[in-house]
Amino acid sequence: MNKNTPIDNQIVSDVINASPVDNVGHSSIRELVRIVNEIEAKTGEKFIRMEMGVPGLDPAEVGIQAEIEALKNGVASKYPMIEGVKELKEEISRFVKLFMNVDVNPAGCIPTVGSMMGGMATFMTANRTDPLKEGTLFLDPGFPVQKQQCKVLGHNYESFDLYDFRGEKLGPELESYLKTGKISSILYSNPNNPSWVCLTEEELSIIGTLANKYDVIVIEDLAYFAMDFRQDYSVPGEAPYQPSAANYTANYILLISSSKVFSYAGQRVGMMVISDKLFNRKYPELKRYYSSELFGYSMIYGALYCLSAGTGHSAQFALAAILKAANNGEFNFIEIVKEYGEKARIMKKIFTDSGFKIVYDTDIDRPIADGFYFTISYPGFEGAKLLTELLYYGISAISLDITGSTRSEGLRACVSQVSRNQFDDLRFRVNKFREDHPV
Ligand SMILES: Cc1ncc(COP(=O)(O)O)c(C=O)c1O
Repeated sequence: MNKNTPIDNQIVSDVINASPVDNVGHSSIRELVRIVNEIEAKTGEKFIRMEMGVPGLDPAEVGIQAEIEALKNGVASKYPMIEGVKELKEEISRFVKLFMNVDVNPAGCIPTVGSMMGGMATFMTANRTDPLKEGTLFLDPGFPVQKQQCKVLGHNYESFDLYDFRGEKLGPELESYLKTGKISSILYSNPNNPSWVCLTEEELSIIGTLANKYDVIVIEDLAYFAMDFRQDYSVPGEAPYQPSAANYTANYILLISSSKVFSYAGQRVGMMVISDKLFNRKYPELKRYYSSELFGYSMIYGALYCLSAGTGHSAQFALAAILKAANNGEFNFIEIVKEYGEKARIMKKIFTDSGFKIVYDTDIDRPIADGFYFTISYPGFEGAKLLTELLYYGISAISLDITGSTRSEGLRACVSQVSRNQFDDLRFRVNKFREDHPV
C-alpha cells in the first residue's frame, strides 16, 4: 500500500483496525460517520464527506418562524392529537393535490416523526392485513434501515435490483414475487436512493396495476420529492406533477419526508398519506393487533399511538406553514434544492475525469439525472475495498452492498455535505488516487 496518501496513513489504518466492524467497507452509514469523525479529529484534516444524506442547506425559514410562534403560544406543554393538527392535515391534502394531482381527504394525511417512523408504522399496519401474506417486496437498491425495520418487526422481505428490470421487464419480474401470494406491500423510493433512477409513468402504471391484481399495498417513498430536476415540478396546480403509482391504484401509502426537500431533517417531521379507499378499508386480520378492522383507524390509534403518540407539536406547525407557502406559490422549494443537482453534475465529472465510472448511469434510455446521490466504481476494485482505500484519500461514501444492490463494485456518494469550496480538494484527491492506482 502507498504510504504517501493525502490523509496520514498510519492514523487511518489505526482507526480502521480499532473498529469493531469486521470489514469497514461494509459498515452501516452511522458507523462510517463515527469512523470518519474519528479520523478527522485525529488528523485535523477535513474529509470530502459523502457517506450520509444530511441536508446541506438551511432549513426553510417560514418553518422556523412558525415553530417559534407555536412554541410561544404554548404548544410544548400540550400533547398533539395523534392524527395531526388540522392546519397541517389540510395543507398536506392540498400539497398532494397541487404537486401530484392526487386527491386525498385530510383524514388520511398524517404527520409522522420523519419518514423513518412513517415506514415503521406502515409495515406494522400494511403487513398485518392478511394472515397468508408475510412481508414487503423492496424494489432495490434502497435505504437499508427499512429492511431493518421489517426484521425488527419479524416480517419477511424480498427484493430485487430494479435496475435489471426497467421498463416492460418490470412487470414479469414483479409478478413472479406477487404470484407467491406472500407479499403484503411493495416499497420503492422515487427518485431512488441510492441509484437516482426515476421511475417512468409506464413503470408506475405496471406497479399500480399489479398492486390491484394481487391486492398488495404500494408504499411509495418520496424522500426526494420532485427532485428529478430534468422536469419542472415546481408550479403548484400545473403539470408536470411528481409522478406516482397513486394514479394507477387506490392501494397506496405515500411517505413524503420533509428532511431533504425542506431541509427540515432535525425536527423529525414527515407526512404519511393514505388513500381514501385504503384509509376506510376493513381488514378483519387487523383485529389481532389493533382494536379496529379499519386500516386508517388502526394506523393512527394502533401503530402511531404505540410508537410515539403523535408527532412533535411545534414541528407540525412548522410543516403546515412550509406547505402553505409552497401551496400558495410563495415558496419555490425546488429552486432551492436544485443546488444538489448542480453539485452532482460537477462532482460526477471530477470522478469520471479520474477514471471512475458511474455505476447506475442510465435511466432506461437517457443519462441518469443529477441529484442528491450518485454511484461510483473504479476499475479493479470491489466496493468495500474501494471504500476503505478512499478513506486514505480523505473521501468517504457507503458501499452499495448494504443497499441491496447487485452492483457490489459500487459506492454511493451523497453530494449534500460537500461544499463547493471543497471541489479543488476533491479533484486533487481523486487525481492522487488515480496516480497511485493506475488503470
Ligand atoms: C429513501 C429514504 N426514505 C426515507 C428516509 C427517511 O426520511 P426522514 O428523515 O423523513 O425520516 C430517507 C432518508 O435519508 C431516505 O433516503
